[in-house]
Amino acid sequence: MRVSYLLSLLPALVAAQLPLPNPPFLPPDIASGAQTSSGGFPNPKWSSLLGTLLYFYDEQRSGTLPSTNRVPWRNDSLILEGRDVGIDLSGGFYDAGDFSKDTFPLVRTIPFTIPSNAQRKMQSFALMSICWGATDFGQGYDLANQTAYLDDTLRWGLDWLIKAHPNDTTLVVFIASADEQNTYWGGDRSIPSPRPVYTITNANPGTDAAAGAAAAFAACSNLYAGRGFSNSSYSAPASLRNDSYANTLLTHGQQLYSLAVNATGGRKTYQTSVPQAGAAYASSGYGDELAVAALFLSWATGSATLYQEAEAYYTRYKLADSNRVFNWDSKTPGLAVLFSQINQGSPSFGGNFSTWRDTAEDFFDGIVNNKGPGYLLQDSLLFYDGDSDDASLNPALNAAMLLRRFAPMASSVDKRVAYTDFAKSQVDYVLGKNSMNGMFPLYRFPPRG
Ligand SMILES: *[C@@H]1O[C@H](CO)[C@@H](O)[C@H](O)[C@H]1NC(C)=O
Ligand SMILES: *[C@@H]1O[C@H](CO)[C@@H](O)[C@H](O)[C@H]1NC(C)=O
Ligand SMILES: *[C@@H]1O[C@H](CO)[C@@H](O)[C@H](O)[C@H]1NC(C)=O
Ligand SMILES: *[C@@H]1O[C@H](CO)[C@@H](O)[C@H](O)[C@H]1NC(C)=O
Ligand SMILES: *[C@@H]1O[C@H](CO)[C@@H](O)[C@H](O)[C@H]1NC(C)=O
Ligand SMILES: *[C@@H]1O[C@H](CO)[C@@H](O)[C@H](O)[C@H]1NC(C)=O
Ligand SMILES: *[C@@H]1O[C@H](CO)[C@@H](O)[C@H](O)[C@H]1NC(C)=O
Repeated sequence: MRVSYLLSLLPALVAAQLPLPNPPFLPPDIASGAQTSSGGFPNPKWSSLLGTLLYFYDEQRSGTLPSTNRVPWRNDSLILEGRDVGIDLSGGFYDAGDFSKDTFPLVRTIPFTIPSNAQRKMQSFALMSICWGATDFGQGYDLANQTAYLDDTLRWGLDWLIKAHPNDTTLVVFIASADEQNTYWGGDRSIPSPRPVYTITNANPGTDAAAGAAAAFAACSNLYAGRGFSNSSYSAPASLRNDSYANTLLTHGQQLYSLAVNATGGRKTYQTSVPQAGAAYASSGYGDELAVAALFLSWATGSATLYQEAEAYYTRYKLADSNRVFNWDSKTPGLAVLFSQINQGSPSFGGNFSTWRDTAEDFFDGIVNNKGPGYLLQDSLLFYDGDSDDASLNPALNAAMLLRRFAPMASSVDKRVAYTDFAKSQVDYVLGKNSMNGMFPLYRFPPRG
């Protein structure tokens, strides 16, 4: 039995570096119903919403819960995960309504956080999205007094992702009993275990999963190092700077990027090596993950070479042809935004800001003018056939997140206003400004227009 495993049996240490508020922030009582915004800055409704969204991640926690656990109905669970294979894999987050742990998407989440990011599924994708958001809009977390929870949430995910990467040629990508996944509906105290642990390796690679995790580590390293896109129109990164943690994250990101790029088994989607993982979250390709990983790493390390590699992936994997939806599987629409941010911040990488800005604007102009990709339902929710079918808010809020982030870089005031207004319309829709005057559950299909 390994020492690391034995250590995991000790009571969970509180990982967060920032003191959590006492008394803790708790979501508003549902019985008080919807309340009208009182305005102000920061608007207490937005602050509360941000806090509630982070609270959702607490509800999804696996492992030995910390003494600061805020969720009264959650218990320690699967605290021995990984023992049978000699890796401590306790902790992390559960997926959606089931109990699998999925590295590539990671836990589904409520679809947005304000004013930062928009995503519905978490681990690599969601950690990347949250860190990217908190790097650009960190003041929102600070003003809402949510930065300690941000740190606590990120570390719960990142510390697990570190454990899932026990050496430079191995990444755990999926843990769930094939029989039980999505069929076990019991409580958290009797989840059937031990469960099979599926990994990608040098010989059996998963380019998308390795690159996706690399992107998450690099984006979060940027956040913890305070490496914001400084001369563009964003606020400072959230106030959780920790350079040693940032360096740890960067090292994992670099190793995983190497594994993605140079695995002896070649470049493959991860379900090629781990078909069990593909049943729930098959990946449609890995070019977008390679590009996004190279971009966040280029910013983290100041490397023009990595930046150029990202441009090369965009061409080689014909990513322009799949510029449609932004979600856990498909990152291409985010690339033009990130390319723009990086070129604006570091012209020395040899990229061309206006080329990427134009690419982004072609895409966003289509959306705000209802000319695709996607189309507007009668209530003006942006909908993508297929991708929106079982997650109707996810693509709309992800688009809103990209529009809001891109708007300050737009080439005209008109576009800036149009992008910002459209982003707000999607958030308003979700919060109740719709013909049903209600917030949508995640799986409810809105009426077709
Ligand atoms: C920075 O993060 C490391 C790793 O989690 C932790 O050990 C250390 O206490 C943190 N430093 C500060 C000043 O919070
Ligand atoms: C954040 O904390 C400060 C200091 O305690 C307090 O004045 C402020 O009202 C809090 N803001 C929110 C949104 O809770
Ligand atoms: C990496 O970790 C895995 C899982 O513990 C193990 O099977 C493998 O032998 C390790 N590889 C190296 C090179 O240490
Ligand atoms: C946690 O344990 C309590 C009993 O101690 C139980 O009532 C509750 O349902 C458990 N929570 C979950 C999510 O299973
Ligand atoms: C991949 O391998 C090549 C050839 O050995 C090397 O030059 C390159 O630096 C490696 N790339 C990464 C990201 O490790
Ligand atoms: C960003 O900074 C670089 C270098 O300082 C400068 O050349 C560039 O014009 C700036 N971009 C913007 C949009 O301010
Ligand atoms: C950048 O691309 C634009 C076209 O989008 C072109 O007009 C401009 O000359 C390019 N700038 C550089 C420095 O290559």
